[in-house]
Amino acid sequence: MMQALGTVEVIPAARRLISSLRDMGYEFPTAVADLVDNSIEAGATVVTVDVEFEGEDSWVRISDNGAGMSSATLREALRYGSSRKYSSTDLGKFGLGLKVASLSQCQRLSVASRTGRERSELAAYCWDLAHIERTNRWELVSPSRSSSQSLYAPLEDSSGTVVLWQRLDRILGYDRPDGESARRRLIGMCRDVEAHLAVVFHRFLSGEVRGRPKLRLLLNGTDIVPWDPFARDEPATKRLDPVNIPVMHSGRRGDLVLEPFVLPHQSGFSSPESFRRASGPANWNQQQGFYVYRANRLIQSGGWCRIRTSDEHTKLARVALHFAPRMDDAFRVNVSKMRVQLPSSIRASLAEAIAPVTKVANEAYRGIRGANGASAIGRQSIHGSSKNRPNRNSVNGWNPAALAERLTVSQVVAHLLSVARADEQKIIRRVAGRLRKGLPQRRRMR
Ligand SMILES: Nc1ncnc2c1ncn2[C@@H]1O[C@H](COP(=O)(O)OP(=O)(O)OP(=O)(O)O)[C@@H](O)[C@H]1O
Ligand SMILES: [Mg+2]
Repeated sequence: MMQALGTVEVIPAARRLISSLRDMGYEFPTAVADLVDNSIEAGATVVTVDVEFEGEDSWVRISDNGAGMSSATLREALRYGSSRKYSSTDLGKFGLGLKVASLSQCQRLSVASRTGRERSELAAYCWDLAHIERTNRWELVSPSRSSSQSLYAPLEDSSGTVVLWQRLDRILGYDRPDGESARRRLIGMCRDVEAHLAVVFHRFLSGEVRGRPKLRLLLNGTDIVPWDPFARDEPATKRLDPVNIPVMHSGRRGDLVLEPFVLPHQSGFSSPESFRRASGPANWNQQQGFYVYRANRLIQSGGWCRIRTSDEHTKLARVALHFAPRMDDAFRVNVSKMRVQLPSSIRASLAEAIAPVTKVANEAYRGIRGANGASAIGRQSIHGSSKNRPNRNSVNGWNPAALAERLTVSQVVAHLLSVARADEQKIIRRVAGRLRKGLPQRRRMR
């Protein structure tokens, strides 16, 4: 390329830059999620994450059945800051994720891709930090022979892309990558990956994203089950009216769409198990607040973005916030797609828009303690006022009279067992047995 007169091109030093870009804030689960974004964008319907522990030779592989890439496209894809046009529903934005997310976790990133059935349509390249350390050049190398089996196996007879991470220094830790603690650490991290993908892609996994087929996401051969933060399949979950907040940015108008929900109180859930599952990875108090979605992919979950504090009384309130990628600048999405910053111009409208949901959540929380024992969730409306005060007869939020009226003995026992410690459970079972014996035959098994 011709150099313009009076200009000097200064190419970044590969060794130092690639190594600093390893610390952009990714963790194992968020790095994997960034690659799943790419697979979804490539039209994949099945994405498989495999994690193999083999000491220093351990590897992580993310493979998909998407459109794949030609050799030239793959080379461009592997360039830092790769160029491409994005549509309004695309999950990608920076041209960095594939490289930066991967090399934040490993020292060798190999990518193989296949666009069709012919062998000639298979391409593969590798970023190897050891090579860059030696040469200080932005050079891709051919994947090592030792990686052939794991790299090419998923593309045996279908199009798609395979991303292989080797030399997992950041995942295993340097000290004893062969040791038992490294193995256990990896297993624990797989659980984190599963929980993260289940929530970040829950709308894709449940097949509710318009114009996209349902996504299957497998971790070590097992399907990931979506985690819906709003427990929408619980009959007692309340869905409040959506609200649109206009956002002006760089002379353009877009909308932030709010979908507010109030989840049921513990006794309103269909089973103790669904209550436990709805509580979420960080538990009820931390999981209240905003769930920010960009093109249906969850970026940030829980917390009120400093618009209000997380309070015990509003722990049942969860609000989906949706914005489109063309409003990215207004929301300052970060590279690892884990955070947004709400524009200051909408904070007041947002505070006003969430007032009804926090009010209903507060009422739902207090309602279970109400004097007549009826569940608040069934009878409170957004506009109703909360006059209910905690009942002095209630125990830790439970009103025994109300429970006895509405629940069977088995349900009460199940609820008690779900909150009891191991030593208490024995006693509860003993008392429940005595109680059942004392009941008339007809009611005993309910
Ligand atoms: N699994 C895949 N299948 C097909 N193409 C892919 C795949 N992964 C990456 N690509 C291509 O490589 C390009 C670069 O990916 P990369 O993740 O680095 O950046 P991006 O997705 O464009 O933006 P972002 O940095 O926000 O993720 C993508 O734009 C896409 O064209
Ligand atoms: Mg990407």
